[in-house]
Amino acid sequence: MIDFHSHFLPNVDDGAKDSNISLEYMEKFYNLGFNKFLLSSHIYPNLYENTPKDLLERFNKFQSMVKTYFKDKIEIFPGSEVYLSQDTVENICTGKVLTINNKKTHVLFEVDFTFLPPNLDDLIKEISKSKLSLIWAHPERNSEIIREPEKLGRFIDQDVLVQINLGSLGGQFGEEIEETAKKLLSKDMVHFIGSDCHCSPRRQFVFKEAMDIFDKYVNPHYKEDILINNAMRIFEGQLLYPFPYKVKEKGLWNKFKKFFKI
Ligand SMILES: [Fe+2]
Repeated sequence: MIDFHSHFLPNVDDGAKDSNISLEYMEKFYNLGFNKFLLSSHIYPNLYENTPKDLLERFNKFQSMVKTYFKDKIEIFPGSEVYLSQDTVENICTGKVLTINNKKTHVLFEVDFTFLPPNLDDLIKEISKSKLSLIWAHPERNSEIIREPEKLGRFIDQDVLVQINLGSLGGQFGEEIEETAKKLLSKDMVHFIGSDCHCSPRRQFVFKEAMDIFDKYVNPHYKEDILINNAMRIFEGQLLYPFPYKVKEKGLWNKFKKFFKI
């Protein structure tokens, strides 16, 4: 399986503090069945100003440690998690952020937890004009998506792909986020899963339980795509379009029609 969001690259953000702790946590995930990891270090204005050059240099050093420790059992891929706002959109469009596996095709982004940027549609349009595709990291943690999970459909319609945190499914961030993650998954609005592991003992290790919940809520038809195939396509820089998702049933008449198969 592929972990499509992690902070295992040491000393670049609020993730792993050193390589030993990264290897220790990666082994825990390997024991759960994960053997490929996207190292998506934060890029956040005035806080984590990680450049592609610096991240790639550190990635190459860490990759040789991973090879020595795990032999060929584990593979890692470079990337970043970019905070998307009016201030960062230009950097994204002009190639100043590290794309997934440095393929210059896909960007993993996050937004603020407390609100959606009012011009999010414009930001998405601007980025897609520069031939980059977007993957939204853990939207289930955003308060507006929690309030109205169906809202995500508007962005999926613009070909934005979605990654949810396994920890959200396992209750790592509370009940509301857990319910939102389950809802998105059961509506086929999820295309990748990630640990978002920060190698911190402050976050409970709920991932075994989370995998059981994932199995319960995932559409079996898309399970292998979410766990493996979609991430592999992105690592290779290939195009990927969202699955058709289930829309909210509107009104009694639609329910009546569905019930009587009219
Ligand atoms: Fe993250």
